[in-house]
Amino acid sequence: MRLKGRVAVVTGGARGIGEGIARCLAHDGARVAILDLDGDAAAESAEGLGAEHVGIAADVSDELTAGAAMEEVVQRCGRMDFLINNAGGGNRKASTAYGPPFTGVAQEGWDEQMALNLRTTFASTKTAISHLKQQEQGVIVNIASVAGLVPSPTMPAYGAAKAAVISLTRTLAVELARDDIRVHAICPGLLYTRAWQVLASRIQKGSPKHADKDPHDVFMEIVRKQTPLGREQTPEDIGKLAAFLCSDDAHNLTGQVIALDGGSTLQIAGG
Ligand SMILES: NC(=O)c1ccc[n+]([C@@H]2O[C@H](COP(=O)([O-])OP(=O)(O)OC[C@H]3O[C@@H](n4cnc5c(N)ncnc54)[C@H](O)[C@@H]3O)[C@@H](O)[C@H]2O)c1
Repeated sequence: MRLKGRVAVVTGGARGIGEGIARCLAHDGARVAILDLDGDAAAESAEGLGAEHVGIAADVSDELTAGAAMEEVVQRCGRMDFLINNAGGGNRKASTAYGPPFTGVAQEGWDEQMALNLRTTFASTKTAISHLKQQEQGVIVNIASVAGLVPSPTMPAYGAAKAAVISLTRTLAVELARDDIRVHAICPGLLYTRAWQVLASRIQKGSPKHADKDPHDVFMEIVRKQTPLGREQTPEDIGKLAAFLCSDDAHNLTGQVIALDGGSTLQIAGG
């Protein structure tokens, strides 16, 4: 119960990685506030963690909405100690995976990716900082991606947005150190959440050699090819690392960018 008495905000915590993070923080004793576009799913996930946890409907890519949600968290939970900026994801419009190369990326798709992955982090962080400062210490964990560490030719806007999240992490780690607010980024590798479930199912349906396979088998083929450890990563892997970074055990760590990817970025770097 190393996080007992603390309050954590998890953006995009209604499902996928965010839900795993919320579960791990609650397991370690934190009271969790889930902020998600999908208010019903946020309330359901919070309820699943126990009565003290809260789910709030909010679009955290908008500064005003994010700010109102942060106020509501403090009103309902009494304080705020940790902010996990997890809301984000890839999107087809900005991806060249199924279409033309970079020059074919639509401006609209580019802007959507920046709003989904970068403005969410900007708006949530900006509106949470004054609440974190009230505790005279705090932790911000940004969920970036390996796509922000290595070239991302199939998803250039997503990669660029996540690289910017990594840059912001390091900048804020320096700016907020004087307030004892530690800032980190976790870069997940391959997780079988919503986006990969859709993608693997599309690959499976479109390829005769995968006709008798389950979409998860198709996903695991990709994992084995790209990951030295040969294992998929899970929301709990990300959640356990986030819980450690939030804990006092990590009080001398800040500005770290951690690839939780089974070694995939090493493999890319190694050719
Ligand atoms: N799944 C992977 O393989 C993978 C790999 C690397 C990084 N990531 C990153 O991990 C994070 C979570 O990914 P996931 O796979 O769990 O995604 P997901 O789509 O399963 O869940 C994302 C959640 O965020 C919410 N959300 C989206 N925009 C929001 C907004 N503006 N305001 C509030 N909530 C919003 C959605 O409603 C959803 O509940 C993302 O930042 C993603 O880029 C995922």
